Amino acid sequence: MHGKIRILGIAGSLRQGSYNRAALQAALSLAPQDALLEVFDISDIPPFSEDLEQRPPVKVLELKQRTRAADAILFVTPEYNYSIPGVLKNAIDWGSRPYGDNAWDGKPVGIMGASIGMLGTARAQYHLRQCCVFLNMYPLNQPEVMIATAGSKFDLEGNLTDQHSREKISQLLVALVDWTRKLGSKSE
Ligand code: FNR
Repeated sequence: MHGKIRILGIAGSLRQGSYNRAALQAALSLAPQDALLEVFDISDIPPFSEDLEQRPPVKVLELKQRTRAADAILFVTPEYNYSIPGVLKNAIDWGSRPYGDNAWDGKPVGIMGASIGMLGTARAQYHLRQCCVFLNMYPLNQPEVMIATAGSKFDLEGNLTDQHSREKISQLLVALVDWTRKLGSKSE
């Protein structure tokens, strides 16, 4: 693969002061030279219903188009009740439907997350990896980026001030670009 690797970043929180949205913002400035990281905001995606999947909302069509145009995906997930938030699962479900029209198919994916707890979204990330099996996404294994006790890692403006977390995100993005080049592009 030649040229820049296009990565679509999706944060799984709608919260204004979200640590995960802030971590995705930090990733924008930490992406390597040979990557183009862009953000897709899932805020306006309505609840999924199979009744609607043959005529999806415009925002879902946009999600699927942007996903397919990307070489790789970066999920930045909070942990809700030991799993991923419903809003992120909802967006993933929309992108996978209708059956046979799965926009995530074959995409390399990096996963990271921030939580106020001690495990930094570990359990949510492993749930997300389970979803990747049926989605036929290819998750990068290492490095794992789990930003624990997030309240101490960001300043009041939402800047990621923790140097270790910044380094892990940088390493993740470099590894994701490398992983994507190894797998070859399936972008459209
Ligand atoms: C949480 N939180 C949480 N944290 C954690 O480490 N493990 C968990 O299982 C949960 N469960 C959970 C459920 C629900 C419904 C909420 C609202 C919160 C706390 C969570 O880490 C915290 O709210 C983060 O700030 C959420 O991420 P954002 O919105 O800051 O990106």
